Amino acid sequence: MKEIEELKENIEADLKAVQTLEELQEVKAKYLGKKGLLTQALKRIKDIPPQQRREYGQGVNRLKAFLEAELKKRQEAIRERELESKLRREWIDLTVPIKPPFGSLHPITQTLERILRIFVGMGFSVEEGPEIELEDYNFDRLNIPKEHPARDMQDTFYVNREGYLLRTHTSPVQIRTMLSQKPPIQMVAPGKVYRRDDDPTHSPMFHQVEGLVVNRHANFKHMKFVIEEFLREFFQTDLPVRFRTSYFPFTEPSAEVDIGCVICDAQGCRVCKDTGWLEVMGCGMVHPNVLESCGLDSEIYQGFAFGMGVERLAMLLYGIDNIKLFYENDIRFLRQF
Ligand code: DAH
Repeated sequence: MKEIEELKENIEADLKAVQTLEELQEVKAKYLGKKGLLTQALKRIKDIPPQQRREYGQGVNRLKAFLEAELKKRQEAIRERELESKLRREWIDLTVPIKPPFGSLHPITQTLERILRIFVGMGFSVEEGPEIELEDYNFDRLNIPKEHPARDMQDTFYVNREGYLLRTHTSPVQIRTMLSQKPPIQMVAPGKVYRRDDDPTHSPMFHQVEGLVVNRHANFKHMKFVIEEFLREFFQTDLPVRFRTSYFPFTEPSAEVDIGCVICDAQGCRVCKDTGWLEVMGCGMVHPNVLESCGLDSEIYQGFAFGMGVERLAMLLYGIDNIKLFYENDIRFLRQF
């Protein structure tokens, strides 16, 4: 009986030390395995003298039942503990909003879309033309004669093919549209243009949006209305707008459009050079020569046109003072839009 008592103490001590299922398995093998201590004790029952056999046998069997119950209890406890820690480790908060690090549209793209949305809302279609353009469309048919300074090598990028160049403005899309569509026409044409120009407010590549309306009765008042509506919608304020007499070969009469300086609220600052006014686009009534160069009878049709620089409008809208920021792709700059 002393032997059973000792065995029980050892079993209890071993069970107490168990931490994992593997250790539990070892304890089980140590006592209940083929050569396990308890197994051996059970085998010895038959060798015990008959007068003690009953008591010994009952003691060993009770111990065996105790160990089996303990092993089962322990196993369940360990399993539960391991499951809990696994759940804690692998916990996922399904209520966290999913917000992957999306990029954003470039400020020039955003400004272009802002411009186009306004004109589309007024019933204009959107047209496009190639960046490598015919000299004929970029200059000749726009009534820009061969000796005109705009054709100077200083301003224009020519390409290795006679009669072609990188378009210097989006105005050739006017020609393309008049050659391919019948009036009434009301279109805007966004796109890249190229000039040999490079300083804080000029880049050799920049963007313009051209506008053209041609029908039998388009007049200067219509043009004024469209441009004023556009500018107030674009800047979201009721700004002062003025039309200043100017000259473009492809329009007559021509004007440049100024808005009250949005940087200083027309008080006078560095950006408006203390005038309180900012020039934002050119415009005018389509020159009869231009209509005729596209096969339209200038006695029947008349039109107005306008052209604006997208970078310039974006700089004014966002208060940016260096055009280069648009092209450096510095993430700290781009993130602000
Ligand atoms: N093409 C001119 C430029 O690049 C801008 C312009 C002025 C376009 C008057 C027009 C216009 O359509 O009528 O400077």
